[in-house]
Amino acid sequence: MTPQQNISLTSTLALPATARYYGRYQSTSELLSWLGWAQQQGVAVRPLGGGSNVLLAPEVDALVLQSDMCQVQVVHETECHRWVLVDGGCDWHSWVVDSAHYGHGLENLALIPGTVGAAPIQNIGAYGVELAEWVAWVEGVQLSTRQWQRWSAQDCRFAYRDSIFKRELRGDVIITRVCFRLSRRFEPNLSYQPLAEWSAGAQVTPHSLREAVCAIRRSKLPDPAELANAGSFFKNPVVAQPQAQLLQQRWPQMPTYPAQGGVKLAAGWLIEQAGWKGRRLGKVGMHRQQALVLVNYGGASLGDIEALVRQVQTDVWQRFKVALEPEPQRF
Ligand code: EPU
Repeated sequence: MTPQQNISLTSTLALPATARYYGRYQSTSELLSWLGWAQQQGVAVRPLGGGSNVLLAPEVDALVLQSDMCQVQVVHETECHRWVLVDGGCDWHSWVVDSAHYGHGLENLALIPGTVGAAPIQNIGAYGVELAEWVAWVEGVQLSTRQWQRWSAQDCRFAYRDSIFKRELRGDVIITRVCFRLSRRFEPNLSYQPLAEWSAGAQVTPHSLREAVCAIRRSKLPDPAELANAGSFFKNPVVAQPQAQLLQQRWPQMPTYPAQGGVKLAAGWLIEQAGWKGRRLGKVGMHRQQALVLVNYGGASLGDIEALVRQVQTDVWQRFKVALEPEPQRF
């Protein structure tokens, strides 16, 4: 197998980037052939999903691999649940729509950009639901050992926008399949306030819930096809209870949420208060409807983004003494 060379990579943030080597695979045997080639040549391997949560370097000195595998199969079922094994190359939103044929649980995660294989890495979440709740296991190949592995949901150590694939196994795994344990009974999660308001009194169906989620997303988040962005750019910070109390005394209207190990704050609110909502710094800025979303107005470089990130982090720190951590992964 011979990879293509010096190929432009696309990401939803529209950063200019070139892969030294690039290949796609339609089967696990093709994937193994690419890994063999890379080992022989002494070239690093970097899997890329949909490019919706990455900060691409201008030159990626590696063999960048993308999956064309997109099969879905039911592997087990009981009266209450169905286990569905989905290839990592599937588009996430298409799978969410398709999942209604098998079971329920993923409706609130509609319209999130990216692939199924990338979803466990940051444990995607939205509107009261996290991927972790619906994953039975994750399958993939570990690059350092070339072993096929299966990680149970517990092994994945899912947490808020976090998993083992961002920590101990960072950069060492190509996720090839994700097994979902879907519920055969529809029990909508309406814990997110705007969804609770939307549903009040009405009968909720899987389809109507998914459509409501899409409508909320479209009203708040810019479409990357129209305005380049990578969704939320910072994680919502979790601070210790005493610090949250002090902040709330000073800013009583500050949104807070209970979280593991402390209190979760709304990064979008902090950024807005720091004066960055709708503000630009050259070719980049923080979105006017959702201050947590960093947007590229066109032609921005990684350096432009890094300058804005530093400025926003500094301003939020100076005002609140809260550190903001970027969500997208450097690639
Ligand atoms: N807020 C502001 N100003 C802003 C933005 C938000 O004051 O400019 C306030 C809102 O009024 C609200 C609070 O902050 O009180 C939270 O805002 P929102 O409900 O819009 O959600 P978020 O915390 O900003 C998170 C996820 C999103 C997810 C939504 C809905 C993170 C980093 N982001 O955003 O995920 O869609 O909740 O569940 O956790 C993503 O990860 O890319 C993403 C879009």
